Amino acid sequence: MQGYEDIDERIVSGSAADGEERAEHSLRPQTLSEYIGQKTATDNLKVFIEAAKMRGEALDHVLFYGPPGLGKTTLAGIIANELDVDIRITSGPAIARAGDLAAILTNLNENDVLFIDEIHRLNRSVEEVLYSAMEDFALDIIIGKGPAARSIRLDLAKFTLIGATTRAGSLSAPLRDRFGVVCKFENYTTDELKLIASRTAGLLGAEIDDDALTEIAIRSRGTPRIVNRLLKRIRDFSQVLGTGRIDIDVTKKALDALEVDDMGLEHLDREILRVIIERFGGGPVGIDTIAAAIGEERITIEDAYEPYLIQSGFLHRTQKGRVVSELAYKHLGLEFAGEQIEMDTHQE
Ligand SMILES: Nc1ncnc2c1ncn2[C@@H]1O[C@H](COP(=O)(O)OP(=O)(O)OP(=O)(O)O)[C@@H](O)[C@H]1O
Ligand SMILES: [Mg+2]
Repeated sequence: MQGYEDIDERIVSGSAADGEERAEHSLRPQTLSEYIGQKTATDNLKVFIEAAKMRGEALDHVLFYGPPGLGKTTLAGIIANELDVDIRITSGPAIARAGDLAAILTNLNENDVLFIDEIHRLNRSVEEVLYSAMEDFALDIIIGKGPAARSIRLDLAKFTLIGATTRAGSLSAPLRDRFGVVCKFENYTTDELKLIASRTAGLLGAEIDDDALTEIAIRSRGTPRIVNRLLKRIRDFSQVLGTGRIDIDVTKKALDALEVDDMGLEHLDREILRVIIERFGGGPVGIDTIAAAIGEERITIEDAYEPYLIQSGFLHRTQKGRVVSELAYKHLGLEFAGEQIEMDTHQE
């Protein structure tokens, strides 16, 4: 049985694999003008950043939410850059105790950015400390124990919290309400992904044809991280098998070798669809049953596979369970069994 960690090993996973964060660093845009796409978010942020700078104040707290690999961490870095302040990067699971958070907060300078990734995974006691820090820029600390205990208030520098999460629904309402700016990250269009691929190829010093850029963009599930990952693997193939120039032939060969199909699905995506069709008549079938049939954990399927399958119309979520669409039958080259039941109830 595969564990949750294994999803990072997928070539088309939006999540960062071990060591990938460091390699990504050099590919990350540094300024808003270099950042491609997410126009709604960046247009608004541009105004808020400018206004905060004019007033010499900290930017309001910002929440980013959306699937992995869409550029949340990158944009947080850019905001700090544009504000000309320091950024401190941490994550929900890394802040184990309230004291850890207090240590981080007391070390921030005026107007600095604190970036908390996976903010939905903060534990309750830490989250409560964060409330007053965000609202009043102060910490209430209890000193001593029992009847002798007293509370002192510690003032903090005004800072900007940027929280990022892949699961906005898991965020508690009081935390969500304390963010002045909320940005939803959308999947990138093919044209945007082509621009990103072209930029990355330039940074890697690789020559690439336009049709190869298109092919990579189409197979990248709307995700820049996947663009960059596929591009690096394809470059390997082009150096070993070809001339070093990335053309459409070597791109297709490499993607086939990587088992990434023309819709960006990889082995396990197809397996999920196939199991629902062949063992459960196309659904509806419960997520736990699918997970058991495939030998994957439910959370892995829900977080890493399902969103893209649903978004591209292969799978629907209904009240009675998951149902595959006619498109899925076609894509797998299977005969479509007939009418579909309750396709229009509770689609997401
Ligand atoms: N708008 C963009 N323009 C150019 N490159 C981008 C853009 N967004 C992301 N990238 C590239 O994709 C990579 C992944 O982005 P990033 O790490 O910011 O994603 P993320 O949303 O923080 O993912 P996670 O949820 O896994 O933390 C970056 O290294 C960067 O090179
Ligand atoms: Mg990130």
